[in-house]
Formats: sequence, C-alpha cells, structure tokens
Amino acid sequence: MNVLVLGSGGREHALCWKLAQSTILDKLYIAPGNAGTMKLGTNIDLDIMNFDQIKDFVIENNVQIVIVGPEAPLVAGIKNYFDCTPGLENTSLIGPSKKGAQLEGSKSFAKKFMIAHRIPTAKYQSVTKTTIAKGNAFLAKMKPPYVLKCDGLAGGKGVLILETLKEAKKELKEILIKKKFGDAGKKVVIEQFLKGEEVSIFVVTDGNSYKILPEAMDYKRIDEGDFGLNTGGMGAVSPAPIASREFMEKTINQIIIPTVKGLKKDKLDYKGFIFFGLIKVGSDPYVIEYNVRLGDPETEVILPRIKSDLLELMEGIATNTLSECDVEISDKTAATVMLVSGGYPGKYQTNKVITGLSKTNTLNFHAGTKIKDEKVLTNGGRVMAVTAVENDLELVLKKIYKNIDHIKFDKMKFRSDIGKDLLAKMEKA
Ligand code: AMP
Ligand code: GLY
Repeated sequence: MNVLVLGSGGREHALCWKLAQSTILDKLYIAPGNAGTMKLGTNIDLDIMNFDQIKDFVIENNVQIVIVGPEAPLVAGIKNYFDCTPGLENTSLIGPSKKGAQLEGSKSFAKKFMIAHRIPTAKYQSVTKTTIAKGNAFLAKMKPPYVLKCDGLAGGKGVLILETLKEAKKELKEILIKKKFGDAGKKVVIEQFLKGEEVSIFVVTDGNSYKILPEAMDYKRIDEGDFGLNTGGMGAVSPAPIASREFMEKTINQIIIPTVKGLKKDKLDYKGFIFFGLIKVGSDPYVIEYNVRLGDPETEVILPRIKSDLLELMEGIATNTLSECDVEISDKTAATVMLVSGGYPGKYQTNKVITGLSKTNTLNFHAGTKIKDEKVLTNGGRVMAVTAVENDLELVLKKIYKNIDHIKFDKMKFRSDIGKDLLAKMEKA
C-alpha cells in the first residue's frame, strides 16, 4: 500500500516512523515533511492546502491512503474534495468531512454538539458583535477566572483566561469589535472555568465503531513549573496517571460513546482521529475541546506505545472494518521533551546547526528541521521531540535528559521538568 502523510512536524515524523514499520506498506510519501521524515520515505514539496496539487500527486503515484496531520486541510474540506473528485475513487483519506471537522473548527459548533448529545462540558454562552450585552451579562453571572474562546482556528492562541470581570469584558470587546484575532474571533464562546487536571484522550473511528489509543498528558507552557506563554506543547507523557480505570470507564460511557453515536446521528461523516481534551473535575471527565487530528507532541508518546500495525488500523478505518482490528498497547511509559528555538513561541531565529544527534539513543522526532550540505539545521520554533520508552517514568526521563545533553544548537531551549510533577506524586503515594 502506498501512503501519503500531510504535514511537517514531530507528529508527522512519529506517524511516519510508525507507518514505516508496517508489513503492508509499500511506498511512504510525506508532504512537505522535514529532515526526519526524509529518512523514512520521500519528502514531496506540496502545499497541503492546495488540494488539486495533492490530487495530481496521489493519482500519479497510486497512493491508496492519505493521512492528514494538522487540522487546517480538514477544516477546509479536504475529505469532501477527496470523496467527490474524479480519479480519487481508489484513495481513502483518513479524516472527518468539513462538517465533522467543525468539532475543532468552531468552538460553538462543538458546544452545541456536546449539549445535544448530553456530553459533559463547561456551561457556555456564544456571543457575536451584536450580542455583546448578552455576553457581558453572562460574564457577570460567572465567577472568576473568566474563559473566552475564539470560535474559529486561531493557531492555539484563541483561548484567554482572565482574572477580572473588567478584563474579560474588555477582551470580549477587543475580539468582537476590534477583531484582535481576525475572523477566528467573529464569534466568542464564553465558558465557565473548570478546575482540575487535564488529559488528552485519543480515539480512531470509522463512523461506526471506535478504538481507544493510549492517552497522554502534555505540558503547554514555555517555562518550567508551567509558567509563561502557551506553546503547542513542550513535552508529553503516556500513560497519564489520572486516566485510571474508573476515570476511563466514565470517559467511555459519558464522552466517547455519545460522541461517536452523536456523529452518526447528526450524519457528520467522520473517519479518523478524535482527540478529546478533558479536564477531571472531582472524579468526573468534562470535555474542554475536541480536535479532529492527533496532538503534537502527544503523538510522539502515544504511537511508540501502540504495538499493533498502524497502517492496518488506517485500512480498517478506510474499509469500515475497524471493529475487526486489534489495538494492542504496551504498558511501558513513553515521554518526550521538545527542544525549541530561543524566543519561541515569540520571535526566534532558524538555520542553526544541530549537533550531537549521532551520539543519542533516543527516538528523535524532528519538527522544525531541514538538511543543508549534509548538516541538520533548525527550521522552526519547535525543533525536535526527544522521545524514549522505558519500563517506568523515572527511567524514561533519565534517558531523555541524558541524551539531550548531547544535542546542541545555538539558543536551544527545553523544559527540564517534564513528567517530574508526576514522579513527585508517585513518590508521595
Ligand atoms: P482549548 O484550546 O480549548 O484546549 O484551551 C486551551 C487551554 O485553556 C486548555 O488546555 C485549558 O488549560 C484551558 N481551558 C480551556 N477551557 C477551559 C475551561 N472551561 N476551564 C478551565 N480551563 C480551560
Ligand atoms: N498538544 C496540543 C495539540 O496538539 O493541540
């Protein structure tokens, strides 16, 4: 089977690493890929938002399965394009339809979906420019802190958590009237603040059945101790200790099953990954967000724990036979630490030479990297996810941090506390 993966981050390198182990894989293509993926398949210089260009490549190269890494092509309707364009009848694209992708593409759509299917989530109010007064009234009824979410995709920056009512009202106005986040903020979802630990749960579905993949915890803030600006993720650990058997049972019954059934009931064509961002309030799971793709850097820790053939699973989704597939999960612990460019998530420099990779024995999933004159150079804010799998968290963290000591590039930054909070809790217990 020939496969094309769309994307260029650590998530896509991890996907390619796992797909490359498949016994049913023939050719692996990655568009556009990075310096890591080129060792596992062929990097192709395609624009992942140019569906005609992707179609031509798929037809010319007899690609049977397309796996979409990031959300943007899905939200823009790549699945519908593949379903109705002549010449693509023999190609399956793994991912939801444009409407299904609204679970991530529109926060108010996701909220309506959850309310309709009785899926536990924070109380909310949707507001537009003409209903600001209603929004202010809702805010006044809430207790601090206040949560404002841009309805549309805002590159991970569209969620604001504000301490005072005054700030919340001011920001609401800035988003809706002054268009602080552009069109992503045409509508705002105001939410009740939920307090608790967060966990990311991943599921694949063929629209009828579903399989649960390993869960993960990610570390979103740039600085140690979870301070500073939000990033795409500075590290991740799997399994997540809060995902106990009891918690997962509640998650399955109250969230996963109602979501998969709800998609079917609402006729939202959905074949692909569902990422549930959950928060544990007391002992109960609440959905904070849906994503219609795998997480990054969560993918880097969940895929190494899957023993089964990922391509067989993708084939199961494509052929509506997912219920016959097995997902065998290792009980080992995986962790990843993201190496980033100094300045990220703000301004940073690229083209820095990365050295020491050959001295490591970790899985180094490349994110923003490229090759020039046989040297590996930085090519983004998030540079590399240094990953390992070991029998326990202590061993895995030791291995990762020891290996990071070998890797160097100018202004390299990483968090040295990934997983350490969990270790401390385990020691106490
Ligand atoms: P989202 O993009 O919706 O996942 O939000 C980003 C982050 O904001 C989440 O990972 C949470 O840490 C936080 N957050 C979002 N919604 C809420 C909420 N209702 N209560 C508390 N924290 C929230
Ligand atoms: N790590 C969070 C995300 O991929 O959205």
